[in-house]
Amino acid sequence: MAQYLSADKEKELVQTANLLMAKGKGLLAADESTGSMTKRLQSIGLENNEENRRVYRQTLFTGSKDLAQHISGVILFHETLYQNDDNGKPFRQILQEKGIIPGIKVDKGLVLLAGTNGENTTQGIDGLGERCAQYYKDGARFAKWRCALKIGDGLPSELGIRETANVLARYASICQQNGLVPIVEPEILPEGDHDLETCQRVTEKVLAATYKALSEHHIFLEGTLLKPNMVTAGFDCKKKYTAKDIARATVTALQRTVPVAVPGICFLSGGQSEEDASINLNAINQYQGKKPWALTFSYGRALQASVLSTWAGKSENVSSAQEQLIKRAQANGAAAKGEYGGGAGGKAGDQSLFEANRTY
Ligand code: 13P
Repeated sequence: MAQYLSADKEKELVQTANLLMAKGKGLLAADESTGSMTKRLQSIGLENNEENRRVYRQTLFTGSKDLAQHISGVILFHETLYQNDDNGKPFRQILQEKGIIPGIKVDKGLVLLAGTNGENTTQGIDGLGERCAQYYKDGARFAKWRCALKIGDGLPSELGIRETANVLARYASICQQNGLVPIVEPEILPEGDHDLETCQRVTEKVLAATYKALSEHHIFLEGTLLKPNMVTAGFDCKKKYTAKDIARATVTALQRTVPVAVPGICFLSGGQSEEDASINLNAINQYQGKKPWALTFSYGRALQASVLSTWAGKSENVSSAQEQLIKRAQANGAAAKGEYGGGAGGKAGDQSLFEANRTY
C-alpha cells in the first residue's frame, strides 16, 4: 500500500505555510553558511569567526518586536539555530517569542556536475531525514534547499534542469515526512548578458520541470512554498527594463508553471539593490492578472545590506542597525500588498548587491 502523509501532518504543513505567507509578511533569509559569511563580515572589517557571526545574528534578531509585523519566518543556518544571545537565550526562542517562525537551511551547498560546462547540483540528501526530525524537535517548522542554474550557451542543460528538479523533489518529500514545510528554490542566476525574454523562457522551463518532479514524488503542494528568482535580464544586459516589464515577465512565467495549490511564492533578491527588490516586488503585486498565490519576499542581501553597513561591528550602532532592518522589512511588507510607494532609503538602499558565482 502506498504511504502518504497523514491528515494531521498535512494539516500542520498547511498551517505553517499559511502563517509564513500571511498578508503583508515575508521571510528574512539569514542562513548564509559559515564560508559565505566571510564576504559579509570582511566588508565591515570583521574576522569571520563564530563569535562575530553570533553577535551579527543577535543584532538581526533582538530588535523591536515590530519586526514580526512584516517578517513571518527567519531562515537560519545550522550553527545559528543552536546559538544564544548574550544572556544565554537561544535565538530560536527569541524569534518564537516575537511570533516569528524559525526555519533551517538543510542543503549542504553546491557541487560540480561532472561533465557539464560548470553546472552544479546541490548536496545534502544523505541523513536528511534524521536531521529534519531533529530540527523539528528543536523548533524549526520549515526548511530551505537552494539549487542554482546558469543561463548561457546551451545552459542550463537538460541534465542540469532534470537533476535540479529531482533533488528538490526528493528534499521536499523528506521535509514533509518530518513536519517541515519545504521551500523549493531553483534559482536561476542573474549573471550574463541575456535579455528578459531569455530569463523568462528558462524560468518557465525550470519551474515546469520542478513541478513535474514534485508531482512524481507525490509532494503535497499545499504544504510547500516556492522561492524563485524574479524574471530579470542578466546583470550585463545592455537593454534596461522597467519594474512593470519585470512584473509582467515574472507573473506570466509563474502563471504558466506554478499550480494553484501552492500557497505562496517568496522571491529571492538575487543581487538587486534593496530598493529595486522592494520596487519590483511591489510591481509584481500591482500587476493585473491571475495571481492565485501569495507573492512575497524571502530576501537575504536585500534585507541585510543596510543593517550590516550601519552596524559595522560596533555595539553602539546596534539599535540603528535594527531600525534599518525594520525599515526594509516594512517596505517589503508593503510591497507584498502592492502598497509600497518607494523611498524607504537605508544606508545601502540603492547599492547593487550582485556577486558573480555566489555560493550561499
Ligand atoms: P538573496 O536574497 O541574497 O538573493 O538570498 C536569498 C536566499 O536565501 C538565497 O538562497
